Amino acid sequence: MSETVLITGCRSGFGLGTAVAAARAGFTVYAGLRDLATAEDLERAAEGLDVTPLQLDVTQAHQREAAVARILDERGRLDHLVNNAGIALGGFLEQIEEDELRRVFEVNVFGAWAMTKACLPGLRDGGGGSVVMVSSMSGRMALPTLGAYAGSKFALEGLGEAWRHELKPFGIRVVLIEPGAYRTDIFERNRNVCRRYDDPQGPYVPWVRSGDRLHRKIVERLAGDPAEVCDHIVRCLRDPSPPLRHPIGPLARPRATLRNFVPFAAVELIMERLLSWARED
Ligand SMILES: NC(=O)c1ccc[n+]([C@@H]2O[C@H](COP(=O)([O-])OP(=O)(O)OC[C@H]3O[C@@H](n4cnc5c(N)ncnc54)[C@H](OP(=O)(O)O)[C@@H]3O)[C@@H](O)[C@H]2O)c1
Repeated sequence: MSETVLITGCRSGFGLGTAVAAARAGFTVYAGLRDLATAEDLERAAEGLDVTPLQLDVTQAHQREAAVARILDERGRLDHLVNNAGIALGGFLEQIEEDELRRVFEVNVFGAWAMTKACLPGLRDGGGGSVVMVSSMSGRMALPTLGAYAGSKFALEGLGEAWRHELKPFGIRVVLIEPGAYRTDIFERNRNVCRRYDDPQGPYVPWVRSGDRLHRKIVERLAGDPAEVCDHIVRCLRDPSPPLRHPIGPLARPRATLRNFVPFAAVELIMERLLSWARED
């Protein structure tokens, strides 16, 4: 019998790509969608493959429970969970309202935590498996204007690291995927900046336009092909002893070098120079 994997956030990007790649690799895939009515792209990409779209907004307790119950009922087992669903939020931290910050944590942190909790009895009963958390390079290094997103991914890294230890006795492998920038809907259809981002009265006006330009350039020039991450996630599902952290993609290496070998005071200086260079008065 094939192994069963539940992947969250499969409308586009890494989720959709991983669902297809995992099914091609022989897994039975349940692909969660925040809104089942948006399954068109997934259904087209997964035609003829063992992929079942599933209504699953990770912030909704009854949907989480129903999704897991259906899988256990239909398959009698659940072997892997990929916590991929996530949202970004651009904006200087002072500009962000409480409801906006809470929403980011609701999806990226509480959603992933609650999904994992809901799946653990099934994973344990099946004798083990894996939980893949799609974190980010922003889970190791916080950049200006991405503080809310980075905060949520730092939190996810903490949960993932503790879970790695706690779940080892049950044969459940926890993995953190830390991608750099990749071309997915997170930069287009799902681009999300806080309501006061370009407030003309605000103190951050001098950086907003140049920050946008810099951001666009980084995405245009550096963002990689998401298939690389999707294939890597599938390799993790098959790996009996994967490392905890998986930095991957554009800028992964320079950022790891900065983090591991350069004192924070130097990183601070680089950021200070960058902000001063980007300032438009
Ligand atoms: N692309 C990158 O450069 C990059 C880099 C590092 C990390 N990541 C992480 O990779 C993951 C996937 O993002 P992506 O880049 O593939 O972007 P994406 O194409 O925008 O995909 C995000 C997915 O999450 C879903 N989602 C959002 N809120 C949800 C909720 N409450 N319940 C269930 N699903 C929800 C979205 O569904 P709807 O579209 O229907 O809302 C969409 O399917 C995220 O965790 C993101 O933080 C991305």
